[in-house]
Amino acid sequence: METLEAIFTRRSVREFADDPVEAEKLRLVLQAAAASPSGGNLQAWGFVLIQDALRLAALRSLAPGIIGRPVAVVVICLDIGRANRMGGAGGERLAWLDLGLATENMLLAAHAQGLGACPIGSFHREAVATFLELPQEVQPVLLLALGIPKHKPESPGRRSISEVVFSRKWGVPYEG
Ligand SMILES: Cc1cc2nc3c(=O)[nH]c(=O)nc-3n(C[C@H](O)[C@H](O)[C@H](O)COP(=O)(O)O)c2cc1C
Repeated sequence: METLEAIFTRRSVREFADDPVEAEKLRLVLQAAAASPSGGNLQAWGFVLIQDALRLAALRSLAPGIIGRPVAVVVICLDIGRANRMGGAGGERLAWLDLGLATENMLLAAHAQGLGACPIGSFHREAVATFLELPQEVQPVLLLALGIPKHKPESPGRRSISEVVFSRKWGVPYEG
């Protein structure tokens, strides 16, 4: 799939078939995360893959935002210790931005391979940190639910380009 096609046809997928996802596809999704751009190349991130049915069920109970039954979940984590050590005062801010980029890379890598994915921000942070035995300086920021899509969701729509893109200064709609 072409990059632009992937960007414009990706949707958040919340309903998944029971079929397993090929290990090779998951590996590429995770490699896409680790290949993301990173401010100062700090790479203050970590990705925990959960596939085991019992652990998935436990994780779902800690994450009201997971609506369907994904066959895998990636817990996207911020390594604050590494961000501070390597990036100084601004390191943590850069690392937060990096996580968004890594998430989009994973979403696109999943979609390009016919997988469905949905970012999940609604979950109990402390409970998930305990569940994963995260070190004190690592925190879970976002979950990524993955699986084979049951169907292709409709787009929930977007604000128009003229509403969000400006020309020369804020408030002057871009007409391009
Ligand atoms: C940071 C973030 C957190 C999100 N959290 C959830 C969530 O907890 N549950 C959910 O079903 N969708 C969640 N979503 C998916 C959004 O609802 C979805 O991206 C948005 O409605 C636009 O739809 P689209 O991704 O199909 O373009 C989240 C998306 C982002 C970027």
